[in-house]
Amino acid sequence: MIIGIDLGTTNSLAACYTEDGPVIIPNRLGKSLTPSVVSMDADEQMYVGESAKARKLLYPQTTADVFKRDMGSGKEFLLGSKSFTAEELSSFVLRSLKADAEEYLGEPVTEAVISVPAYFNDVKRKATKRAGELAGLKVERIISEPTAAAIAYGLYQKNKNTRFLVFDLGGGTFDVSILELFENILEVRAVAGDNYLGGEDFTQVLIQMFLRDNQIKDEELSEKEKAALHTQAELCKLGFGKSRTGIMSCKIHDQVVDYSIGLEDYEQACQFLLERIRKPVKRSLSDANIRLSDIDEIVLVGGATKLSIVRKFVGKLFGRMPNTSVNPDEAVALGAAIQAAMKERQAAVREVILTDVCPFTLGTEVVVEKENNHMESGHFCPIIERNTVIPASRTQRLYTAHDQQTRMRVNILQGESRFAKNNLTLGEIYIDVPAGPAGQEAVDVTYTYDINSILEVEVTAVSTGHKEKLLIKNQENNMTDEEIQERMEALSYLKIIPREQEANKMLLMRGEKLYEESVGDLRRKVEWCLRKFESVLDTQDPSRIEAARIEFGEELDVLEQELE
Ligand SMILES: Nc1ncnc2c1ncn2[C@@H]1O[C@H](COP(=O)(O)OP(=O)(O)OP(=O)(O)O)[C@@H](O)[C@H]1O
Ligand SMILES: [Mg+2]
Repeated sequence: MIIGIDLGTTNSLAACYTEDGPVIIPNRLGKSLTPSVVSMDADEQMYVGESAKARKLLYPQTTADVFKRDMGSGKEFLLGSKSFTAEELSSFVLRSLKADAEEYLGEPVTEAVISVPAYFNDVKRKATKRAGELAGLKVERIISEPTAAAIAYGLYQKNKNTRFLVFDLGGGTFDVSILELFENILEVRAVAGDNYLGGEDFTQVLIQMFLRDNQIKDEELSEKEKAALHTQAELCKLGFGKSRTGIMSCKIHDQVVDYSIGLEDYEQACQFLLERIRKPVKRSLSDANIRLSDIDEIVLVGGATKLSIVRKFVGKLFGRMPNTSVNPDEAVALGAAIQAAMKERQAAVREVILTDVCPFTLGTEVVVEKENNHMESGHFCPIIERNTVIPASRTQRLYTAHDQQTRMRVNILQGESRFAKNNLTLGEIYIDVPAGPAGQEAVDVTYTYDINSILEVEVTAVSTGHKEKLLIKNQENNMTDEEIQERMEALSYLKIIPREQEANKMLLMRGEKLYEESVGDLRRKVEWCLRKFESVLDTQDPSRIEAARIEFGEELDVLEQELE
Protein backbone atom coordinates (compact mmCIF):
# COMPACT_ATOMS: atom_id res chain seq x y z
CA MET A 1 0.00 0.00 0.00
CA ILE A 2 1.19 3.52 -0.80
CA ILE A 3 0.69 5.88 2.14
CA GLY A 4 0.35 9.68 2.11
CA ILE A 5 2.68 11.74 4.29
CA ASP A 6 2.50 15.38 5.33
CA LEU A 7 6.09 16.13 6.32
CA GLY A 8 5.61 19.38 8.23
CA THR A 9 7.95 21.91 9.78
CA THR A 10 6.37 21.41 13.18
CA ASN A 11 4.34 18.22 12.89
CA SER A 12 4.24 15.30 10.51
CA LEU A 13 1.55 12.71 9.94
CA ALA A 14 0.62 9.83 7.69
CA ALA A 15 -2.67 8.67 6.21
CA CYS A 16 -3.87 5.76 4.13
CA TYR A 17 -6.83 5.07 1.90
CA THR A 18 -9.37 2.53 3.14
CA GLU A 19 -12.83 1.36 2.12
CA ASP A 20 -14.21 4.18 4.22
CA GLY A 21 -12.06 6.80 2.51
CA PRO A 22 -8.80 8.29 3.73
CA VAL A 23 -7.92 7.87 7.40
CA ILE A 24 -5.13 9.20 9.57
CA ILE A 25 -2.68 6.60 10.84
CA PRO A 26 -2.20 6.94 14.59
CA ASN A 27 1.39 7.08 15.80
CA ARG A 28 2.95 5.04 18.57
CA LEU A 29 1.30 7.21 21.19
CA GLY A 30 -2.08 6.88 19.52
CA LYS A 31 -1.87 10.47 18.35
CA SER A 32 -2.25 11.70 14.81
CA LEU A 33 0.54 14.29 14.90
CA THR A 34 4.20 13.41 15.29
CA PRO A 35 6.33 16.46 16.11
CA SER A 36 9.08 16.92 13.49
CA VAL A 37 11.78 16.89 16.14
CA VAL A 38 14.84 14.65 16.29
CA SER A 39 17.17 14.15 19.23
CA MET A 40 20.16 11.96 20.02
CA ASP A 41 21.36 10.71 23.41
CA ALA A 42 24.86 9.95 24.71
CA ASP A 43 24.65 6.42 23.36
CA GLU A 44 23.79 7.80 19.94
CA GLN A 45 20.20 6.69 20.22
CA MET A 46 17.80 8.72 18.11
CA TYR A 47 14.51 10.11 19.39
CA VAL A 48 11.76 11.27 17.09
CA GLY A 49 8.49 13.09 17.74
CA GLU A 50 6.99 13.61 21.16
CA SER A 51 9.99 12.15 22.99
CA ALA A 52 12.45 14.21 21.06
CA LYS A 53 10.32 17.26 21.75
CA ALA A 54 10.44 16.44 25.44
CA ARG A 55 14.20 15.96 25.22
CA LYS A 56 14.57 19.41 23.81
CA LEU A 57 13.75 20.79 27.25
CA LEU A 58 16.53 18.74 28.79
CA TYR A 59 19.09 18.44 26.03
CA PRO A 60 18.61 21.31 23.64
CA GLN A 61 22.16 20.83 22.27
CA THR A 62 21.41 17.36 21.04
CA THR A 63 17.95 18.09 19.64
CA ALA A 64 17.00 19.53 16.27
CA ASP A 65 13.67 20.98 15.10
CA VAL A 66 12.35 23.37 12.42
CA PHE A 67 14.71 21.85 9.86
CA LYS A 68 12.28 21.50 6.99
CA ARG A 69 12.94 24.98 5.68
CA ASP A 70 16.63 24.10 5.29
CA MET A 71 15.87 21.11 3.13
CA GLY A 72 18.42 20.84 0.33
CA SER A 73 20.41 23.83 1.59
CA GLY A 74 23.41 21.82 2.76
CA LYS A 75 23.09 23.31 6.23
CA GLU A 76 24.38 21.02 8.96
CA PHE A 77 22.57 20.53 12.27
CA LEU A 78 24.72 19.53 15.18
CA LEU A 79 23.36 16.92 17.59
CA GLY A 80 26.10 16.56 20.16
CA SER A 81 29.17 15.58 18.19
CA LYS A 82 27.33 14.41 15.06
CA SER A 83 26.00 16.61 12.34
CA PHE A 84 23.07 16.03 10.01
CA THR A 85 21.48 17.75 7.03
CA ALA A 86 17.78 18.61 6.99
CA GLU A 87 17.00 15.69 4.70
CA GLU A 88 18.83 13.31 7.00
CA LEU A 89 16.87 14.57 10.00
CA SER A 90 13.65 14.33 7.99
CA SER A 91 14.47 10.76 7.15
CA PHE A 92 14.31 9.92 10.86
CA VAL A 93 10.83 11.40 11.05
CA LEU A 94 9.79 9.46 7.96
CA ARG A 95 11.25 6.27 9.37
CA SER A 96 9.16 6.71 12.48
CA LEU A 97 5.97 7.32 10.45
CA LYS A 98 6.74 4.31 8.27
CA ALA A 99 7.10 2.04 11.31
CA ASP A 100 3.81 3.32 12.78
CA ALA A 101 2.05 2.71 9.47
CA GLU A 102 3.40 -0.82 9.23
CA GLU A 103 2.18 -1.53 12.74
CA TYR A 104 -1.26 -0.11 11.98
CA LEU A 105 -1.65 -1.80 8.59
CA GLY A 106 0.03 -5.06 9.50
CA GLU A 107 2.06 -5.10 6.29
CA PRO A 108 5.36 -3.64 5.06
CA VAL A 109 5.13 -0.08 3.72
CA THR A 110 7.71 0.81 1.10
CA GLU A 111 6.05 3.52 -0.98
CA ALA A 112 4.72 6.97 -0.18
CA VAL A 113 3.37 10.20 -1.60
CA ILE A 114 4.96 13.08 0.32
CA SER A 115 3.67 16.67 0.35
CA VAL A 116 5.82 19.79 0.16
CA PRO A 117 4.97 23.51 0.25
CA ALA A 118 3.91 24.88 -3.12
CA TYR A 119 6.86 27.22 -2.90
CA PHE A 120 9.47 24.46 -2.64
CA ASN A 121 11.74 24.66 -5.66
CA ASP A 122 13.17 21.72 -7.46
CA VAL A 123 16.19 21.40 -5.17
CA LYS A 124 14.01 21.21 -2.07
CA ARG A 125 11.63 18.75 -3.75
CA LYS A 126 14.53 16.51 -4.70
CA ALA A 127 15.92 16.72 -1.16
CA THR A 128 12.51 15.66 0.17
CA LYS A 129 12.55 12.70 -2.16
CA ARG A 130 16.03 11.86 -0.92
CA ALA A 131 14.78 11.99 2.68
CA GLY A 132 12.14 9.43 1.74
CA GLU A 133 14.73 7.20 0.16
CA LEU A 134 16.97 7.47 3.22
CA ALA A 135 14.00 6.20 5.24
CA GLY A 136 13.51 3.24 2.92
CA LEU A 137 10.50 4.72 1.17
CA LYS A 138 10.14 4.93 -2.57
CA VAL A 139 8.60 8.34 -3.13
CA GLU A 140 5.93 7.77 -5.73
CA ARG A 141 5.11 11.40 -6.05
CA ILE A 142 5.84 14.74 -4.43
CA ILE A 143 2.58 16.68 -4.15
CA SER A 144 2.11 20.35 -3.26
CA GLU A 145 0.45 20.82 0.11
CA PRO A 146 -2.40 23.08 -1.12
CA THR A 147 -3.13 20.66 -3.94
CA ALA A 148 -3.38 17.85 -1.41
CA ALA A 149 -5.67 19.94 0.78
CA ALA A 150 -7.91 20.78 -2.17
CA ILE A 151 -8.10 17.10 -3.09
CA ALA A 152 -9.17 16.28 0.47
CA TYR A 153 -11.98 18.83 0.19
CA GLY A 154 -12.69 18.23 -3.50
CA LEU A 155 -13.50 14.61 -2.91
CA TYR A 156 -16.45 15.62 -0.77
CA GLN A 157 -17.44 18.25 -3.28
CA LYS A 158 -19.05 15.75 -5.65
CA ASN A 159 -18.17 16.68 -9.22
CA LYS A 160 -19.17 20.31 -8.97
CA ASN A 161 -16.66 22.66 -10.56
CA THR A 162 -15.09 24.48 -7.70
CA ARG A 163 -12.63 27.30 -7.16
CA PHE A 164 -10.66 26.96 -3.98
CA LEU A 165 -8.54 29.35 -2.02
CA VAL A 166 -6.35 27.26 0.25
CA PHE A 167 -5.13 29.26 3.22
CA ASP A 168 -2.34 27.36 4.95
CA LEU A 169 -0.78 28.85 8.06
CA GLY A 170 1.45 26.18 9.51
CA GLY A 171 4.24 26.29 12.05
CA GLY A 172 6.71 28.27 10.00
CA THR A 173 5.27 29.03 6.60
CA PHE A 174 2.23 30.70 5.12
CA ASP A 175 0.92 29.66 1.73
CA VAL A 176 -2.06 30.87 -0.23
CA SER A 177 -3.06 28.96 -3.33
CA ILE A 178 -5.87 29.34 -5.78
CA LEU A 179 -6.99 26.11 -7.39
CA GLU A 180 -9.72 25.23 -9.78
CA LEU A 181 -11.35 21.82 -10.02
CA PHE A 182 -12.91 21.49 -13.45
CA GLU A 183 -14.38 18.12 -14.35
CA ASN A 184 -11.47 15.92 -13.34
CA ILE A 185 -8.68 18.39 -13.73
CA LEU A 186 -7.34 20.15 -10.66
CA GLU A 187 -5.43 23.17 -11.79
CA VAL A 188 -3.24 25.35 -9.62
CA ARG A 189 -3.97 28.88 -10.78
CA ALA A 190 -1.62 30.79 -8.51
CA VAL A 191 0.54 30.42 -5.45
CA ALA A 192 1.85 33.09 -3.13
CA GLY A 193 3.14 33.08 0.39
CA ASP A 194 5.53 34.09 3.06
CA ASN A 195 8.24 31.59 3.93
CA TYR A 196 8.75 33.17 7.30
CA LEU A 197 5.31 33.47 8.79
CA GLY A 198 3.62 30.82 10.89
CA GLY A 199 2.33 29.74 14.28
CA GLU A 200 5.86 29.91 15.65
CA ASP A 201 5.84 33.69 15.17
CA PHE A 202 2.69 33.89 17.30
CA THR A 203 4.51 31.93 19.99
CA GLN A 204 7.49 34.27 19.73
CA VAL A 205 5.21 37.25 20.43
CA LEU A 206 4.29 35.72 23.79
CA ILE A 207 7.95 35.05 24.58
CA GLN A 208 8.83 38.65 23.81
CA MET A 209 5.94 39.97 25.91
CA PHE A 210 6.98 37.76 28.83
CA LEU A 211 10.60 38.96 28.64
CA ARG A 212 9.68 42.60 28.18
CA ASP A 213 7.12 42.79 30.98
CA ASN A 214 9.40 40.97 33.42
CA GLN A 215 12.47 42.92 32.36
CA ILE A 216 14.45 39.84 31.45
CA LYS A 217 17.01 39.93 28.67
CA ASP A 218 16.96 37.15 26.11
CA GLU A 219 20.74 36.74 26.16
CA GLU A 220 20.74 36.14 29.92
CA LEU A 221 18.78 32.93 29.45
CA SER A 222 20.37 29.52 29.25
CA GLU A 223 19.39 27.15 26.44
CA LYS A 224 17.24 25.22 28.88
CA GLU A 225 15.47 28.29 30.17
CA LYS A 226 14.80 29.33 26.61
CA ALA A 227 13.34 25.93 25.78
CA ALA A 228 11.16 25.98 28.91
CA LEU A 229 9.92 29.47 28.16
CA HIS A 230 9.09 28.39 24.62
CA THR A 231 7.01 25.50 25.92
CA GLN A 232 5.17 27.81 28.30
CA ALA A 233 4.46 30.28 25.52
CA GLU A 234 3.22 27.50 23.25
CA LEU A 235 0.86 26.19 25.97
CA CYS A 236 -0.33 29.70 26.70
CA LYS A 237 -1.12 30.19 23.00
CA LEU A 238 -3.10 26.95 22.81
CA GLY A 239 -4.88 27.93 26.03
CA PHE A 240 -6.45 30.91 24.27
CA GLY A 241 -8.72 28.41 22.55
CA LYS A 242 -10.57 27.92 25.83
CA SER A 243 -9.89 31.00 27.87
CA ARG A 244 -9.54 34.74 27.32
CA THR A 245 -6.60 34.91 29.71
CA GLY A 246 -3.32 33.13 29.12
CA ILE A 247 -0.87 32.18 31.84
CA MET A 248 2.80 31.34 31.76
CA SER A 249 4.99 30.18 34.58
CA CYS A 250 8.70 29.81 34.13
CA LYS A 251 11.73 29.25 36.31
CA ILE A 252 14.32 31.88 35.41
CA HIS A 253 17.63 32.05 37.33
CA ASP A 254 16.13 29.74 39.98
CA GLN A 255 13.11 31.99 40.50
CA VAL A 256 9.60 31.20 39.40
CA VAL A 257 8.17 33.98 37.27
CA ASP A 258 4.38 33.97 36.82
CA TYR A 259 2.81 35.95 34.04
CA SER A 260 -0.72 36.41 32.79
CA ILE A 261 -1.94 38.09 29.67
CA GLY A 262 -5.36 38.98 28.22
CA LEU A 263 -6.50 37.95 24.76
CA GLU A 264 -7.04 41.57 23.67
CA ASP A 265 -3.48 42.51 24.55
CA TYR A 266 -2.20 39.46 22.75
CA GLU A 267 -4.28 40.23 19.69
CA GLN A 268 -2.97 43.78 19.71
CA ALA A 269 0.63 42.57 19.92
CA CYS A 270 0.04 40.17 17.01
CA GLN A 271 -1.44 42.81 14.74
CA PHE A 272 1.80 43.21 12.76
CA LEU A 273 1.80 39.48 12.04
CA LEU A 274 -1.87 39.43 11.04
CA GLU A 275 -1.27 42.30 8.64
CA ARG A 276 1.34 40.21 6.83
CA ILE A 277 -1.42 37.80 5.84
CA ARG A 278 -3.04 40.34 3.55
CA LYS A 279 -0.42 40.72 0.85
CA PRO A 280 -0.01 37.10 -0.32
CA VAL A 281 -3.81 36.74 -0.39
CA LYS A 282 -4.14 39.77 -2.66
CA ARG A 283 -1.25 38.71 -4.83
CA SER A 284 -2.59 35.19 -5.39
CA LEU A 285 -5.98 36.56 -6.42
CA SER A 286 -4.53 39.10 -8.81
CA ASP A 287 -2.08 36.59 -10.30
CA ALA A 288 -4.93 34.13 -10.85
CA ASN A 289 -7.03 36.99 -12.19
CA ILE A 290 -9.90 35.95 -9.94
CA ARG A 291 -12.06 38.06 -7.69
CA LEU A 292 -12.62 37.02 -4.12
CA SER A 293 -16.35 36.73 -4.87
CA ASP A 294 -15.58 34.07 -7.51
CA ILE A 295 -14.02 31.77 -4.92
CA ASP A 296 -16.39 28.95 -3.96
CA GLU A 297 -14.48 27.53 -1.05
CA ILE A 298 -12.00 29.06 1.36
CA VAL A 299 -10.20 26.18 2.95
CA LEU A 300 -8.21 26.59 6.16
CA VAL A 301 -5.18 24.37 6.58
CA GLY A 302 -2.41 24.33 9.17
CA GLY A 303 -2.46 24.30 12.94
CA ALA A 304 -2.08 28.05 13.31
CA THR A 305 -5.47 28.63 11.65
CA LYS A 306 -6.97 27.24 14.87
CA LEU A 307 -5.91 30.40 16.68
CA SER A 308 -9.04 32.43 17.35
CA ILE A 309 -7.32 35.72 16.50
CA VAL A 310 -6.27 34.31 13.14
CA ARG A 311 -9.80 33.04 12.38
CA LYS A 312 -11.27 36.38 13.32
CA PHE A 313 -8.84 38.21 11.04
CA VAL A 314 -9.42 35.77 8.18
CA GLY A 315 -13.20 36.07 8.56
CA LYS A 316 -12.90 39.83 8.28
CA LEU A 317 -10.47 39.68 5.38
CA PHE A 318 -12.71 37.41 3.31
CA GLY A 319 -16.01 38.74 4.57
CA ARG A 320 -17.24 35.21 5.26
CA MET A 321 -16.44 32.19 7.37
CA PRO A 322 -14.02 29.72 5.80
CA ASN A 323 -14.66 26.02 5.42
CA THR A 324 -13.11 23.91 8.17
CA SER A 325 -15.10 20.73 7.71
CA VAL A 326 -11.84 18.80 7.35
CA ASN A 327 -9.52 19.16 10.36
CA PRO A 328 -6.88 21.78 9.39
CA ASP A 329 -4.17 19.54 10.85
CA GLU A 330 -5.18 16.59 8.71
CA ALA A 331 -6.32 17.89 5.32
CA VAL A 332 -2.89 17.69 3.66
CA ALA A 333 -2.12 14.14 4.79
CA LEU A 334 -5.61 12.95 3.82
CA GLY A 335 -5.19 14.51 0.37
CA ALA A 336 -1.78 12.87 -0.03
CA ALA A 337 -3.38 9.50 0.83
CA ILE A 338 -6.08 10.07 -1.79
CA GLN A 339 -3.37 10.90 -4.32
CA ALA A 340 -1.58 7.69 -3.33
CA ALA A 341 -4.79 5.75 -3.96
CA MET A 342 -5.09 7.41 -7.38
CA LYS A 343 -1.55 6.28 -8.11
CA GLU A 344 -2.51 2.77 -7.19
CA ARG A 345 -5.66 3.19 -9.26
CA GLN A 346 -7.92 2.14 -6.47
CA ALA A 347 -11.37 1.81 -8.00
CA ALA A 348 -13.09 3.81 -5.29
CA VAL A 349 -11.16 6.96 -6.08
CA ARG A 350 -12.05 9.29 -8.88
CA GLU A 351 -8.86 10.07 -10.73
CA VAL A 352 -7.97 13.74 -10.75
CA ILE A 353 -5.35 15.11 -13.09
CA LEU A 354 -3.09 17.61 -11.42
CA THR A 355 -1.51 20.57 -13.09
CA ASP A 356 0.96 22.91 -11.56
CA VAL A 357 2.30 26.41 -12.09
CA CYS A 358 5.76 27.82 -12.64
CA PRO A 359 6.50 29.66 -9.38
CA PHE A 360 8.96 32.18 -10.88
CA THR A 361 9.12 34.34 -13.97
CA LEU A 362 11.55 33.08 -16.64
CA GLY A 363 12.88 35.53 -19.16
CA THR A 364 15.88 37.01 -20.89
CA GLU A 365 18.00 40.12 -21.00
CA VAL A 366 17.33 42.80 -23.61
CA VAL A 367 18.62 46.17 -24.72
CA VAL A 368 16.07 48.95 -24.47
CA GLU A 369 15.96 52.05 -26.64
CA LYS A 370 15.75 55.27 -24.66
CA GLU A 371 15.57 58.97 -25.53
CA ASN A 372 17.91 60.14 -28.38
CA ASN A 373 18.47 56.62 -29.72
CA HIS A 374 20.44 55.86 -26.60
CA MET A 375 20.54 52.09 -26.02
CA GLU A 376 20.47 50.76 -22.49
CA SER A 377 21.31 47.14 -21.80
CA GLY A 378 20.53 44.98 -18.80
CA HIS A 379 16.73 45.06 -18.94
CA PHE A 380 14.70 41.98 -18.09
CA CYS A 381 12.19 40.70 -20.62
CA PRO A 382 9.73 38.16 -19.13
CA ILE A 383 8.91 35.20 -21.38
CA ILE A 384 7.10 32.75 -19.11
CA GLU A 385 5.53 34.77 -16.31
CA ARG A 386 5.19 33.41 -12.80
CA ASN A 387 2.06 31.40 -12.10
CA THR A 388 1.74 30.33 -15.71
CA VAL A 389 0.22 26.85 -15.77
CA ILE A 390 2.83 24.26 -16.78
CA PRO A 391 3.67 22.69 -19.13
CA ALA A 392 4.00 26.00 -20.96
CA SER A 393 5.76 27.19 -24.09
CA ARG A 394 6.22 30.83 -25.10
CA THR A 395 8.14 32.53 -27.88
CA GLN A 396 9.61 36.02 -27.96
CA ARG A 397 11.26 37.67 -30.97
CA LEU A 398 14.46 39.63 -30.29
CA TYR A 399 16.29 41.89 -32.78
CA THR A 400 19.95 42.78 -33.23
CA ALA A 401 20.96 45.89 -31.29
CA HIS A 402 24.03 47.01 -33.26
CA ASP A 403 24.95 47.49 -36.91
CA GLN A 404 26.94 44.61 -38.42
CA GLN A 405 26.24 42.41 -35.40
CA THR A 406 26.94 38.77 -36.28
CA ARG A 407 26.27 37.11 -32.96
CA MET A 408 23.47 37.32 -30.45
CA ARG A 409 23.55 36.25 -26.84
CA VAL A 410 20.43 34.97 -25.11
CA ASN A 411 20.81 35.18 -21.37
CA ILE A 412 18.37 32.88 -19.55
CA LEU A 413 17.10 34.43 -16.35
CA GLN A 414 14.76 33.66 -13.48
CA GLY A 415 13.27 36.30 -11.19
CA GLU A 416 10.91 39.24 -10.84
CA SER A 417 13.18 42.28 -11.08
CA ARG A 418 13.09 44.68 -14.04
CA PHE A 419 16.85 44.49 -14.20
CA ALA A 420 18.69 41.44 -15.46
CA LYS A 421 21.48 41.72 -12.88
CA ASN A 422 19.03 41.29 -9.99
CA ASN A 423 17.67 38.07 -11.40
CA LEU A 424 19.25 34.65 -11.37
CA THR A 425 21.17 33.50 -14.44
CA LEU A 426 20.36 29.94 -15.46
CA GLY A 427 22.43 29.79 -18.62
CA GLU A 428 23.18 31.46 -21.94
CA ILE A 429 23.02 30.65 -25.63
CA TYR A 430 25.03 32.24 -28.43
CA ILE A 431 23.74 32.19 -31.99
CA ASP A 432 25.20 33.48 -35.27
CA VAL A 433 23.14 35.84 -37.42
CA PRO A 434 23.96 37.42 -40.82
CA ALA A 435 25.50 40.90 -40.61
CA GLY A 436 23.21 43.85 -41.33
CA PRO A 437 21.91 47.11 -39.92
CA ALA A 438 20.73 47.08 -36.30
CA GLY A 439 17.22 45.69 -35.96
CA GLN A 440 17.22 43.87 -39.30
CA GLU A 441 18.09 40.40 -38.07
CA ALA A 442 16.03 38.65 -35.43
CA VAL A 443 15.90 35.47 -33.39
CA ASP A 444 12.89 33.66 -31.98
CA VAL A 445 13.48 32.59 -28.41
CA THR A 446 11.22 29.78 -27.22
CA TYR A 447 11.02 28.78 -23.57
CA THR A 448 9.35 25.48 -22.76
CA TYR A 449 8.85 24.63 -19.10
CA ASP A 450 7.60 21.13 -18.42
CA ILE A 451 5.81 19.42 -15.53
CA ASN A 452 9.11 18.25 -14.01
CA SER A 453 10.43 21.81 -13.79
CA ILE A 454 12.80 21.34 -16.69
CA LEU A 455 13.31 24.37 -18.89
CA GLU A 456 14.20 24.01 -22.55
CA VAL A 457 15.33 27.06 -24.46
CA GLU A 458 15.45 27.07 -28.23
CA VAL A 459 16.80 29.99 -30.24
CA THR A 460 16.15 30.21 -33.99
CA ALA A 461 17.75 32.76 -36.29
CA VAL A 462 14.74 33.97 -38.28
CA SER A 463 16.44 34.60 -41.63
CA THR A 464 18.62 31.45 -41.74
CA GLY A 465 16.52 29.02 -39.74
CA HIS A 466 19.62 28.04 -37.79
CA LYS A 467 18.78 26.68 -34.29
CA GLU A 468 20.56 26.45 -30.93
CA LYS A 469 19.15 24.59 -27.92
CA LEU A 470 19.83 24.42 -24.21
CA LEU A 471 18.25 22.17 -21.60
CA ILE A 472 18.27 23.49 -18.06
CA LYS A 473 17.54 20.67 -15.66
CA ASN A 474 17.16 20.64 -11.89
CA GLN A 475 18.11 24.21 -11.26
CA GLU A 476 20.70 23.52 -8.59
CA ASN A 477 21.65 27.17 -8.42
CA ASN A 478 18.21 28.39 -7.43
CA MET A 479 18.64 31.32 -5.11
CA THR A 480 18.22 30.38 -1.48
CA ASP A 481 16.75 32.76 1.07
CA GLU A 482 20.25 33.24 2.48
CA GLU A 483 21.59 34.31 -0.89
CA ILE A 484 18.79 36.82 -1.36
CA GLN A 485 19.53 38.19 2.12
CA GLU A 486 23.24 38.41 1.30
CA ARG A 487 22.46 40.21 -1.93
CA MET A 488 20.25 42.71 -0.11
CA GLU A 489 22.91 43.36 2.50
CA ALA A 490 25.58 43.83 -0.15
CA LEU A 491 23.39 46.41 -1.91
CA SER A 492 22.70 48.38 1.27
CA TYR A 493 26.39 49.30 1.51
CA LEU A 494 26.15 51.31 -1.69
CA LYS A 495 26.04 55.10 -1.61
CA ILE A 496 22.90 57.02 -0.66
CA ILE A 497 21.22 58.97 -3.44
CA PRO A 498 21.30 62.83 -3.45
CA ARG A 499 18.42 64.42 -1.56
CA GLU A 500 16.86 66.22 -4.51
CA GLN A 501 16.35 62.94 -6.31
CA GLU A 502 14.52 61.38 -3.42
CA ALA A 503 10.98 62.01 -4.69
CA ASN A 504 11.75 60.70 -8.17
CA LYS A 505 13.47 57.65 -6.76
CA MET A 506 10.55 56.98 -4.47
CA LEU A 507 8.23 57.02 -7.45
CA LEU A 508 10.55 54.78 -9.45
CA MET A 509 10.69 52.34 -6.57
CA ARG A 510 6.92 52.39 -6.30
CA GLY A 511 6.80 51.60 -10.01
CA GLU A 512 9.39 48.88 -9.62
CA LYS A 513 7.42 47.30 -6.80
CA LEU A 514 4.24 47.43 -8.80
CA TYR A 515 6.06 45.87 -11.74
CA GLU A 516 7.18 42.98 -9.54
CA GLU A 517 3.70 42.47 -8.14
CA SER A 518 1.90 42.53 -11.46
CA VAL A 519 1.82 40.30 -14.53
CA GLY A 520 0.49 40.46 -18.08
CA ASP A 521 -1.13 43.64 -19.45
CA LEU A 522 -0.82 45.52 -16.21
CA ARG A 523 2.87 44.72 -16.00
CA ARG A 524 3.39 46.00 -19.53
CA LYS A 525 1.54 49.23 -18.70
CA VAL A 526 3.72 49.75 -15.63
CA GLU A 527 6.82 49.10 -17.71
CA TRP A 528 5.67 51.63 -20.31
CA CYS A 529 4.99 54.36 -17.74
CA LEU A 530 8.32 53.66 -16.03
CA ARG A 531 10.23 53.97 -19.26
CA LYS A 532 8.44 57.19 -20.15
CA PHE A 533 9.34 58.73 -16.80
CA GLU A 534 12.93 57.48 -16.97
CA SER A 535 13.45 59.02 -20.38
CA VAL A 536 12.28 62.39 -19.06
CA LEU A 537 14.69 62.00 -16.13
CA ASP A 538 17.46 61.41 -18.68
CA THR A 539 16.81 64.88 -20.18
CA GLN A 540 17.85 66.48 -16.86
CA ASP A 541 15.41 69.31 -17.59
CA PRO A 542 13.97 70.33 -14.17
CA SER A 543 10.66 71.72 -15.43
CA ARG A 544 9.91 68.71 -17.63
CA ILE A 545 10.88 66.38 -14.78
CA GLU A 546 8.56 68.23 -12.41
CA ALA A 547 5.59 67.81 -14.75
CA ALA A 548 6.46 64.19 -15.50
CA ARG A 549 6.72 63.43 -11.80
CA ILE A 550 3.15 64.58 -11.18
CA GLU A 551 1.91 62.65 -14.19
CA PHE A 552 3.78 59.48 -13.22
CA GLY A 553 2.45 59.69 -9.68
CA GLU A 554 -1.11 59.85 -10.98
CA GLU A 555 -0.49 56.95 -13.34
CA LEU A 556 0.82 54.87 -10.46
CA ASP A 557 -2.27 55.67 -8.38
CA VAL A 558 -4.46 54.31 -11.19
CA LEU A 559 -2.28 51.26 -11.87
CA GLU A 560 -2.08 50.37 -8.18
CA GLN A 561 -5.87 50.44 -8.07
CA GLU A 562 -5.92 48.02 -10.98
CA LEU A 563 -3.77 45.56 -9.02
CA GLU A 564 -6.27 45.53 -6.15
N1 LIG B 1 -5.23 24.63 18.79
C1 LIG B 1 -4.26 25.43 18.35
N2 LIG B 1 -4.31 26.76 18.59
C2 LIG B 1 -3.34 27.57 18.15
N3 LIG B 1 -2.26 27.17 17.47
C3 LIG B 1 -2.17 25.86 17.21
C4 LIG B 1 -3.14 24.92 17.61
N4 LIG B 1 -2.76 23.70 17.20
C5 LIG B 1 -1.59 23.88 16.56
N5 LIG B 1 -1.23 25.17 16.56
C6 LIG B 1 -0.02 25.75 15.98
O1 LIG B 1 0.12 25.32 14.66
C7 LIG B 1 1.49 25.26 14.31
C8 LIG B 1 1.78 23.95 13.65
O2 LIG B 1 0.96 23.82 12.54
P1 LIG B 1 1.13 22.64 11.53
O3 LIG B 1 1.24 21.36 12.26
O4 LIG B 1 0.06 22.77 10.52
O5 LIG B 1 2.50 23.06 10.93
P2 LIG B 1 3.40 22.28 9.91
O6 LIG B 1 2.55 21.69 8.87
O7 LIG B 1 4.31 21.40 10.65
O8 LIG B 1 4.25 23.47 9.34
P3 LIG B 1 4.46 23.96 7.87
O9 LIG B 1 3.14 23.87 7.18
O10 LIG B 1 4.94 25.35 8.07
O11 LIG B 1 5.48 23.05 7.29
C9 LIG B 1 2.28 25.44 15.57
O12 LIG B 1 2.83 26.74 15.60
C10 LIG B 1 1.22 25.26 16.66
O13 LIG B 1 1.53 26.05 17.78
MG1 LIG C 1 1.72 22.03 6.96
